[in-house]
Amino acid sequence: MINYTEKIPNNVDLGRDRVLQRALEHWQPAYMGWWYDMGPNESHNYEVYLRTATSVEPDGWAQFGYVKMPDYRWGIFLQPRDEKREVNFGIHKGQSAWQEVPGEYRSTLRRVIVTQGDTEPASVEQQRMLGASCPSMYDLRNIFQVNVEEGRHLWAMVYLLHRYFGRDGREEAESLLARRSGDADNPRILGAFNEATPDWLAFYMFTFFTDRDGKFQLCALAESGFDPLARTCRFMLTEEAHHMFVGETGISRIIQRTCEVMKENKVEDPQDVRALGVIDLPTIQRYLNFHYSVTLDLYGSDVSSNAANYYTSGLKGRFRETKLDDDHVLADAEYPVCEVVGGKIITKNVPALTALNERLRDDYIEEIADGVGRWQRVIDNAGIPFQLTLPHKGFHREIGNFAGHFISSDGEVLSAEAWRNHEFEWLPNSKDYAYVQSLMSGRVVEPGKFANWIAPPARGINNQPLNFQYVRFN
Ligand SMILES: [Fe+2]
Ligand SMILES: [Fe+2]
Repeated sequence: MINYTEKIPNNVDLGRDRVLQRALEHWQPAYMGWWYDMGPNESHNYEVYLRTATSVEPDGWAQFGYVKMPDYRWGIFLQPRDEKREVNFGIHKGQSAWQEVPGEYRSTLRRVIVTQGDTEPASVEQQRMLGASCPSMYDLRNIFQVNVEEGRHLWAMVYLLHRYFGRDGREEAESLLARRSGDADNPRILGAFNEATPDWLAFYMFTFFTDRDGKFQLCALAESGFDPLARTCRFMLTEEAHHMFVGETGISRIIQRTCEVMKENKVEDPQDVRALGVIDLPTIQRYLNFHYSVTLDLYGSDVSSNAANYYTSGLKGRFRETKLDDDHVLADAEYPVCEVVGGKIITKNVPALTALNERLRDDYIEEIADGVGRWQRVIDNAGIPFQLTLPHKGFHREIGNFAGHFISSDGEVLSAEAWRNHEFEWLPNSKDYAYVQSLMSGRVVEPGKFANWIAPPARGINNQPLNFQYVRFN
């Protein structure tokens, strides 16, 4: 169970470590300052029907009730320790999992934790203005749930920094509150977390594509030989699932609504569809292309000696490492990666250890393809002849072997000029953004009401009806 009587709720027996407790209590007001500045705009008096973690057991860890968001009990929750757990891969395979940071991996581990931690507040910053244009009270509640949990994920990483990295860790924890998404002078670390999330279509795409990158990174870190990192990531994953649900169902509901309106009015031309106040399917495809491609970059270079080192050292595993049937050392294994040679995309085998970023990216793509297939079924069931596709993996990439090349959405290598001629057939243009945002000029918050451009969800949160008062504005 989680101890809620302390100033910082936790299940790590924080009260027994006075120095750590004081350090975190010192960071807490800085965190609250950040939340007031950069958390959801104008939300501070709202009471929101939120779930709060009360136990870390997979079932029954969540309790629902109204919470004033700044009073949310952010805290430190780790999956309970398994005394028998071992390092399951790399050169330390078979050792007992580490309870303290191995000296030789200190700076590497710190970098891994800071990079993960930086994404958490970044997404809150990216989403902070969206409450003003929410399509329903249900959706408003969902974005706030995502935001408070990203805040907690920051707490999770900051706990590790404070507890295991001394003074350097405390400095890093402060920097995590100082960087700002999209800031020219002090941006967030990773590219996708400096992009704008200007509207709700972008928000659902972000939670489907980019929160899922979060899931895959957390899954890889949940395999870590550094046990406290593994345990905190395991618990974060239970929260992450809801974020991806919000994204997948959000897009699905938009598609459903568009298809309904297309059928009712017997229209197919995007301009006619727009005239009816819903989002045309080609625009949804262009948003998809954008969010997919910028998220693929988050996995890093296709061939990476850092990735090899993280694995060999036992710091970051593969997706579902312990379920994989091989030697978990990979010294002789190979893995295929793409490369652009002489105007053509070729595949070649490289040492598997150096291709671990690519492998995680491929695992991610597989899961993404399933989700896009579920969206396609909504279109097919409506009998509308439109095919959603995932662009080629090399499309619109800025990191790795495709960077600097101009790959079309279906995988043709083009000249820069030819690519630019088609750019806005593939990616959202300023008119697309202006149109989508024109639909979202105000918020819809009457209980049970939904904006015209999105269908209601199949059911409410925690079995509440759709017309439940998910947010009290006071
Ligand atoms: Fe997160
Ligand atoms: Fe998330």
